[in-house]
Amino acid sequence: MRVLVVTGAGVSAESGIPTFRGREGYWRNLDPAKLATPEAFARDPELVWQWYRERRERIRAAQPNAAHHAIAKLAGHADDFLLVTQNVDDLHARVGLPDETMVQIHGDIFVTRCSRCHFSRLDYDHPPSQSYGAAGEQGHEQEHVLLRCPKCNARMRPGVVWFGEQLPWSEAQRVENFLSRGACDVVIVVGTTATFGYIIDWALRASCGGELIEVNPEETQLSRFAMRLVRDPAAIALPRLVDELIDSRSSKL
Ligand code: OAD
Repeated sequence: MRVLVVTGAGVSAESGIPTFRGREGYWRNLDPAKLATPEAFARDPELVWQWYRERRERIRAAQPNAAHHAIAKLAGHADDFLLVTQNVDDLHARVGLPDETMVQIHGDIFVTRCSRCHFSRLDYDHPPSQSYGAAGEQGHEQEHVLLRCPKCNARMRPGVVWFGEQLPWSEAQRVENFLSRGACDVVIVVGTTATFGYIIDWALRASCGGELIEVNPEETQLSRFAMRLVRDPAAIALPRLVDELIDSRSSKL
């Protein structure tokens, strides 16, 4: 069984992490142009870092839900599997999904990277204050804002993809490599409004000849292409769906 799973913010909603466009989503009250663009960061790095720091804290405190576990279970039963997630949280990784079966196409919120050169590092915990020189005594928020690249001294930024930026080439290439190996038997798209063309494109190309399943309580731009629509929350729908797929596969053997 060759499987592609594509996830968005909805898969982490039941872990208490807000979505972006839903009723209680971030973009209801916050302006993406002020928080998630390179221009916003150049204008007000403190505001941007503050938002990412709060999100890091919320994610650290969250637990993976039944949907994350179900996806990892499916990965364990598939012959060839790839998860493409738009989520910058680490909840898929925390249930044991191996790095090589997962592409975080919008980056990783726990990575801090240079805004100019290629330097980056994982800042899962608050980074050590000595890395921040004079800012060391002024609290984490200040530290992030003042943080400079140890290689080129440019400002350090969150390791995520912002509006108007290119996708990370190597990660997009990993998706392309997976697609080039052939179509999938099953493509499951979970908890995303599928706003971006590349998400729809990858889901459609992968499902050519196979089954495209959408798991989302609401209709999306992808719904009309899906062979099956599951209009339940991911943590309820996915464990059921994954068991069904595994059972149907083993009964065919
Ligand atoms: P959105 O906030 O656009 O969409 C979340 C989707 O999840 C909606 O379609 C909801 O109906 C659905 N949903 C909500 N709760 C759910 C649940 N319990 N189970 C299943 N589905 C549920 O989030 P994304 O599509 O992930 O990018 O957004 C894509 C990108 O836009 C994000 O990665 C982010 C954002 O702006 C950047 O910041 C670059």
